[in-house]
Amino acid sequence: MTKYSQTVEDGIDGMREMARGNFNLSWMDSNPEGWGQEVTRSQDGLRLENIEKGHYAKVPEFGSSHGSMAPRGCYVPDETPGLDQYTLNEMSEVWSENAAALYDEAVVRQWNSVTDIPWDKLEKLPDDIEKSVCQMCTGLTEVEFVAGDMPAQWLHRINHDFHEVKLFLATQIMDEARHLDVFRKRALANGGGLLSASPANQDLLGAILTAGDYTTASALMHIFGEGFVLTLFRQGEFLAPTEVEKTIFRMCMQDEARHVAYGVKHLQYLLERHPEREEEIHKVLDLGEQAIFSLTIEPQTSEPRAILAGGGMDNIELGLARMAFIYQKQVKEYINRLKVAGLDRLPRITIPLEIPDLGLAA
Ligand SMILES: [Fe+2]
Ligand SMILES: [Fe+2]
Repeated sequence: MTKYSQTVEDGIDGMREMARGNFNLSWMDSNPEGWGQEVTRSQDGLRLENIEKGHYAKVPEFGSSHGSMAPRGCYVPDETPGLDQYTLNEMSEVWSENAAALYDEAVVRQWNSVTDIPWDKLEKLPDDIEKSVCQMCTGLTEVEFVAGDMPAQWLHRINHDFHEVKLFLATQIMDEARHLDVFRKRALANGGGLLSASPANQDLLGAILTAGDYTTASALMHIFGEGFVLTLFRQGEFLAPTEVEKTIFRMCMQDEARHVAYGVKHLQYLLERHPEREEEIHKVLDLGEQAIFSLTIEPQTSEPRAILAGGGMDNIELGLARMAFIYQKQVKEYINRLKVAGLDRLPRITIPLEIPDLGLAA
């Protein structure tokens, strides 16, 4: 007869006991506090916030010290080994009161670039317009996935007790994959292709990825970077020559609104508990603002947007005026979002609130 290891032999003995009707069944009564949960479903279905009630809503300020992957609210046997993987164990470092609701919204509103974009509406465009769309899409393809890389970089470090945040960040990674893919598809789909990368982009993207802690990275990305992108997409009608780009901007905008909403509420949660972190956040925003300004003046970023906003190279004056309007909106909304989060940026801002007079009328 084959000789198995002790572990396997013990397992077979256990099965023999069960076959004789000798069960352990201690798990059945292991978690009395967590038993008998009453759930009321939302009108549209079962939301996370419907189940995270009472016993299950108790999120520890410091994530479980056992450091295992035991689900929050279950009974954890003493012998459960810790995994020694989590470094973000303080709730305020990652928490946002809207994470659960944003997760549910994200899973309900998933879309895809295969069938949800009216690709059949693509039409032959004048050369300057097609080239501008392709250059804008090259730039957006370049930046979009940093917002997937950044949460991916921190996700496995976040304590398992904060699963609402982990779930939300997982949806963000998928959202950004879709954004990368939809802008790349648009660049390649209409007889054009990718044009030039942007050296200035790398400063901002690099600062997000090398930020020393999660909250700093989040402020720079969720509020600053994605906030600027959200405002840009909201003005998408100026930059979209066909129904295709309009739909792309509209779809991406819904996703970006969730990412920004998480960032604002997270920063607010952190600053209410750690006001001493304010200065550090200001410093990273100093960097971000300078980086975005170098980006704005790079020809491969500014020119295609101005051409699209004006409706062609001949109308560059109108295009520049519209881009100046969008910039002003971007800065204003950025300052407002930080204000909601509890940070007064206006006295510290390092970039102009509006584009100075370019002498266009002269
Ligand atoms: Fe995105
Ligand atoms: Fe995003």
